[in-house]
Amino acid sequence: MSENNGQALSISRLSKQFTIDTGTVQALTDINLRVEPGEFISIVGASGCGKSTLLRIIVGLDSESSGEILLGDQPIRTPGVERGMVFQEARLLPWLTVSDNIAFGCRSETPSTERNRLVREHIELVGLVGFEKAYPHQLSGGMQQRVSIARALVNRPKVLLLDEPFGALDALTRINMQQEVLRIWEAEKTTMILVTHDIDEAIYLGDRVVVMSNRPGTIKKIVQVSLPRPRDRSDYDFVQIRKEIYAEFFEQTNKPFAYAI
Ligand SMILES: Nc1ncnc2c1ncn2[C@@H]1O[C@H](COP(=O)(O)OP(=O)(O)OP(=O)(O)O)[C@@H](O)[C@H]1O
Ligand SMILES: [Mg+2]
Repeated sequence: MSENNGQALSISRLSKQFTIDTGTVQALTDINLRVEPGEFISIVGASGCGKSTLLRIIVGLDSESSGEILLGDQPIRTPGVERGMVFQEARLLPWLTVSDNIAFGCRSETPSTERNRLVREHIELVGLVGFEKAYPHQLSGGMQQRVSIARALVNRPKVLLLDEPFGALDALTRINMQQEVLRIWEAEKTTMILVTHDIDEAIYLGDRVVVMSNRPGTIKKIVQVSLPRPRDRSDYDFVQIRKEIYAEFFEQTNKPFAYAI
């Protein structure tokens, strides 16, 4: 087992405002979160509460924010190879094949034989053997998303940011991908930050579930999930945690549980 490099991610007093034609949008307000090295964090929250914005800032794609984000003792301002991101939409390069899209994620110094091995390994990992030479437009949305997951993982980043990565996948593939992400997390000790709309997925995967409030996004509650893995979604304690998180949504929307998200 390889070890994470031991760098905690620490987010302090982070706020983000967008300026648009009609005024300003306060997307995030005073986010404070320390993520331990090798920790698995799930983030849930209503649409528009700033989850993708938060991930974009952590990956270094948006430096126009106030507050501070440190990885170890280094401030994050730009993207770096130690942080990988799977976006909400696949974002593949349409003129490259599946193999070449994944190879594109490799560090530039990776020798070509090693690069080919890594690409093959990751195509297998995401279940796309036989589609190596296909172009993105020849794949379904779920298959494209699996390519983007492979592209983010191929570099074995220390911190992996996943923005609703399984949203476009069918239920069975989704469960398989959850297992694969867990397997990689356990083997590599990658720090994982996963945004999801699926509360069960958040509890199934996370060490902690961060519940965000409606816009302007703040952290409303952090729920510790101390259940041993592999987790059982029907386990009594699992169900209690689910209730606790649903109650947070219920409180903020004032709607019955079933309509709360
Ligand atoms: N580039 C931008 N310019 C202006 N406003 C933006 C921009 N990106 C996001 N916003 C605004 O910031 C808020 C948060 O958006 P964000 O995409 O982070 O939400 P989200 O929680 O990821 O939502 P969803 O669950 O629907 O993906 C929204 O009100 C959105 O309109
Ligand atoms: Mg989003």
